[in-house]
Amino acid sequence: MKIVMLGAPGAGKGTQAKRIAEKYHLPHISTGDIFRANLREGTELGLKAKEYMDAGALVPDSLTVELLLDRVAKDDCRDGYVLDGFPRTIAQADVLTDALAKSGDKVDLAINIDVPDEHIQRRMSGRRSCPQCGQGYHTEFNPPKEEGVCDKCGAALIQRDDDKPETVAKRLQVYHEQTQPLIEYYEKAGVLKTIDGTKPMDEVFADITALF
Ligand code: AP5
Repeated sequence: MKIVMLGAPGAGKGTQAKRIAEKYHLPHISTGDIFRANLREGTELGLKAKEYMDAGALVPDSLTVELLLDRVAKDDCRDGYVLDGFPRTIAQADVLTDALAKSGDKVDLAINIDVPDEHIQRRMSGRRSCPQCGQGYHTEFNPPKEEGVCDKCGAALIQRDDDKPETVAKRLQVYHEQTQPLIEYYEKAGVLKTIDGTKPMDEVFADITALF
């Protein structure tokens, strides 16, 4: 099954994508995570992507599209995947649609996690993540057992550079202008399902699994 996660920054796409991937044994592919991993490794791609991410802008398609197409062509994606953060523009969605159509395939499900803007700053300011194993937390809604320490691997948790309030405001603006139109795109394709993302995480996940 080929799944696309839609929703504003901080809506809970990554949180839910990880759980879907685990439950249905699908790879979780997050373009944001790929860029952040490259940055940690100090690659040219990571350093270039950082300029855009820190400004709250989208990383250009020239750095994003091939990377994604190469990733979904790997063996572990044969039975499907959960895409988190791609596509983010109509142009990216068209690339994915065309690539899948070549093998008579298509996106099966686009899950739109709906969270109004007024909830987003609170979500982002409390977000923490583990730089070592990728586990996500929230200081208020999903705290680790010991403050600042990953439950899974014991590494010190970090806050993302692009979670500063001014960058979040820019990311929201970019989301509304460039990514939100994908809701209509996948609605027209007949695969869109919208979930209320303001509920607690477990309830959101239960609503998602009810779609399968
Ligand atoms: P990316 O990493 O994809 O960021 P994003 O889309 O802005 O989404 P986030 O990761 O910020 O949020 P999320 O929806 O995954 O929420 P989460 O589950 O963490 O992209 C970062 C940047 O990379 C972009 O700005 C862009 O520059 C670049 N980029 C990436 N892909 C690109 C592409 N295709 N093209 C061009 N550029 C690209 O949850 C947020 C917090 O809320 C967490 O702390 C979580 O614990 C908490 N939470 C989650 N669910 C709930 C709930 N139900 N109740 C309470 N708290 C909750």
